[in-house]
Amino acid sequence: MSGHGPAIPMTARPSGPLRGTAQVPGDKSISHRALILGALSVGETQITGLLEGQDVLDTARAMRAFGAEVTQHGPGEWSVHGVGVGGFAEPDGVIDCGNSGTGVRLIMGAMATTDIAATFTGDASLNKRPMGRVTDPLAKFGAQSFGRSGGRLPLTLIGAAQPVPVRYTLPVPSAQVKSAVLLAGLNAPGQTVVIEGEPTRDHTERMLRGFGAEITVEDTDEGRVITLTGQPELQAQPVAVPRDPSSAAFPVCAALMVPQSEIVVPGVSQNPTRNGIYLTLQEMGADLVMENPRNEGGEPVADLRVRHSPLRGIAVPPERAASMIDEYPVLAALAALAEGVTVMRGIKELRVKESDRIDAMARGLEACGVRVEETEDSLSVHGMAQVPGGATVQTHIDHRIAMSFLCLGLAAQKPIRVDNASPIATSFPVFEDLMRDLGAQITRENT
Ligand code: S3P
Repeated sequence: MSGHGPAIPMTARPSGPLRGTAQVPGDKSISHRALILGALSVGETQITGLLEGQDVLDTARAMRAFGAEVTQHGPGEWSVHGVGVGGFAEPDGVIDCGNSGTGVRLIMGAMATTDIAATFTGDASLNKRPMGRVTDPLAKFGAQSFGRSGGRLPLTLIGAAQPVPVRYTLPVPSAQVKSAVLLAGLNAPGQTVVIEGEPTRDHTERMLRGFGAEITVEDTDEGRVITLTGQPELQAQPVAVPRDPSSAAFPVCAALMVPQSEIVVPGVSQNPTRNGIYLTLQEMGADLVMENPRNEGGEPVADLRVRHSPLRGIAVPPERAASMIDEYPVLAALAALAEGVTVMRGIKELRVKESDRIDAMARGLEACGVRVEETEDSLSVHGMAQVPGGATVQTHIDHRIAMSFLCLGLAAQKPIRVDNASPIATSFPVFEDLMRDLGAQITRENT
């Protein structure tokens, strides 16, 4: 619930080479889903490598409020004793999802077809974000919602007493919306179908299959058609959470920015619906190698070895946007040090993330002396040999904006200060220590 707490300004100073091994935490998307599917299963789901960021801790607390037994046994080691599909109890209090759009949207889906009511809220960032994209399809199952204008949180959802299955074409490329519909479909009789024009992260589909649901995925002229048979008995499963490719992108991009750096980031998910940033970095000329490719817990993973490289700006293919949607902020920061212009198109969804990320990156880069151009759905960054820095950047309660500028500050001419780094704890609680161990000069104010 970082957005509820005091601001923590942080400063990154020009640093020497980054060296060493960066053990980034577990994947945030998979961590949320492991807790939610564990809660909807019969038996005990054992999870290893769970991300213990605030977003995921808020989802764990929510699952307890809906009646599941969620226990921490050691660092990253958790168990969930589930209540079964349709077994959620009505929570006594308000469900506070803090900063997490994924948490609130997936949980709303998971309860929407059970005959209970729940009220959801979040921090100042989450309470601004659109929820209609989820409550609209959930209404088709028979759920009712009462929120603030524009369907914003706080919002009360009344689950359908007699849910009907739904066929839904996603109007926006969003794995959160897709997942909310699939989770709602679990407790509807018959087949729920979701159609997505552009493939988005597929962790929900993979995990539902792993937990024993009947789910098929077909690529057709209409797009990707996902069909789920409702009312399965989900069986508890062990879940080994791979390391988060979105978190790994920060030390990887920092190493690309700071001359003479070389780091290894082991065990990072290379799921093809998530690895767009790494393809893009290689196209820009990065010396980035995926070593020891293997399969862990149903996900392809590899050890990433990256060395500082001179990069050139490219036009990022817009059809790649969904597979790197969370990595555009750090790519924009890196692009400031590439030769030529980096053009990022088809990224309108960035305007409804934890902050308006096109605007936040554009204003922050300008403050650091970098030339940018933006349109409603694009951002272009003009690279330069030296980024002046020497600015304070507004992060708008957005962890990825904070981390992106702290990375850039390591390679700028003058320090870069972010007004509030506290939201970093939502997704990457060990960021500061991990970066310092690699040699980054990052300090909190007054420490
Ligand atoms: C996520 C989906 C993406 C992503 C978010 C995590 C998920 O959001 O930005 O960080 O776990 O499903 P959208 O579904 O809004 O694109």
